[in-house]
Amino acid sequence: MIAFASRTGNVRYIVSRLQLPAIEIAEDIKLAKPFLLFTYTDGFGDVPRSVARFMERCGKLCQGVIVSGNSNFGHRVFGAAGDALARQWQVPLVRKVDMRGFAEDYEAIRRYYEQCFREERKSDEVLLEVK
Ligand SMILES: Cc1cc2nc3c(=O)[nH]c(=O)nc-3n(C[C@H](O)[C@H](O)[C@H](O)COP(=O)(O)O)c2cc1C
Repeated sequence: MIAFASRTGNVRYIVSRLQLPAIEIAEDIKLAKPFLLFTYTDGFGDVPRSVARFMERCGKLCQGVIVSGNSNFGHRVFGAAGDALARQWQVPLVRKVDMRGFAEDYEAIRRYYEQCFREERKSDEVLLEVK
């Protein structure tokens, strides 16, 4: 599952292209299973408030962070929300994407997603067999 936040549509566009299970972050969302976080960058390298609040609720289940930013903001703050979240929650920064990104970004995200949730899928399969 990817939990994502998108203000102007870039992250939403990428998530829709990825065709992976996804949920948009909202005030009442609380996840019970591991997820990847996909956020944009706000302010001057800031984490969006809705994302910070979501992570206070669910951050312990986060398996990695993907961030979209705009490299025109300069190297120091490009996608800096992702750096800050990865540091705070001690999870990998999976990918820093410039705006809507490129095919290689999508591939890298898909690869990490598959690797991350393979074990979970296996255990789901075992549960199905037992039933
Ligand atoms: C007010 C504002 C501030 C932003 N600040 C940054 C920033 O500090 N660093 C950065 O890399 N991108 C910054 N961005 C760019 C967005 O993070 C980037 O366009 C991202 O792709 C937006 O994703 P979204 O369309 O899903 O909301 C900013 C955009 C806006 C509108």
